[in-house]
Amino acid sequence: MDLRVLSREDIFSPRPEWRFEPEAPDYFAMYSSLWGGIVKDPALMLIPLDDHMVHRGDGIFEAFKCVKGHIYNFDAHLSRLENSARLISLNLPFDLETIKEITLKTVAIAGVKDCRIRIYVSRGLGNAFSCSPVDCRSQLYIVVLKESVPPPYYYTDGASAITSCIPTKASFFAQVKSCNYLPNALAHLEAHEKGADFAIMLDQQGYLAEGPTQSIAIVDHQKIFKYPRLDNTLKGTTLLRAVALAEELVEAGELKSISSSDISREEAYNSLEMFAFTVGIAVVPIVKYDEKVIGTGKPGPVFRRLLKLFQRDYTENRELLTPVPYDEVANG
Ligand SMILES: Cc1ncc(COP(=O)(O)O)c(C=O)c1O
Repeated sequence: MDLRVLSREDIFSPRPEWRFEPEAPDYFAMYSSLWGGIVKDPALMLIPLDDHMVHRGDGIFEAFKCVKGHIYNFDAHLSRLENSARLISLNLPFDLETIKEITLKTVAIAGVKDCRIRIYVSRGLGNAFSCSPVDCRSQLYIVVLKESVPPPYYYTDGASAITSCIPTKASFFAQVKSCNYLPNALAHLEAHEKGADFAIMLDQQGYLAEGPTQSIAIVDHQKIFKYPRLDNTLKGTTLLRAVALAEELVEAGELKSISSSDISREEAYNSLEMFAFTVGIAVVPIVKYDEKVIGTGKPGPVFRRLLKLFQRDYTENRELLTPVPYDEVANG
């Protein structure tokens, strides 16, 4: 093998070989506090290897979306970011207002109206690759990505789920949206290998916890919308929004009530409806779980109502929609 010492120009040539560039880009812009600016060239969207987020998973993140030029539920994500930082004694490099402003500018410079956004706060560089975070200075990275389009059959036919063999994170770690997603990645792989859409991890007592990147809920036989107690899972912003939206269904008599409680596998098998929630999919009906047919085996009425309520929320709920200042950025 020909191994030679490379120059900056070898790596950052206009079309570097190592960075495959699809015709339409997947990554639109990245902000890095290390550089104090934004890059649009995907080949420059880099994080140093000695950032503890890279070599120890010591960092946190948030994932959310921009719909028709408005960031959806931004404050809920910023507040979860702040909570994750507090739980792991990570000082945010800027206050939340500044993080918000930088995010909005990065999306505006990306120049896309429908996209995904990820905010990362890393422990920072230094300490010669040791595990110790002492003396590290946290860094902020923000990346704007192509929007994700879930497979249409999720909504027309419903999705399938299995119970995962991967032990879920212990309560404390489950609540931090950290960059350590190894159990989640393995559960995802397990679902893929077993031909299912989602793998649901169980908590330490054997109750349903969550999917690799999805919150889970059911409608039980009494028409109670039930979701797991949130001390063993990440507090999903989409699930919490669904809980608020489902109040309308309770008022309309389509649901009896809403409750957060332990859900056993048996209870899920016998439920009328079962759902997965996450930012990228909103709500998806699970119609098969561990080979058992859920409800009628087809997307149910509560799913249809919730999906409509989400669609309304994404475009009409001014309280949850933060406009991106495209014009401000364009006019300097
Ligand atoms: C472990 C885990 N649970 C639940 C969720 C759903 O959270 P949200 O609805 O905020 O996307 C995610 C999101 O990625 C996640 O990673």
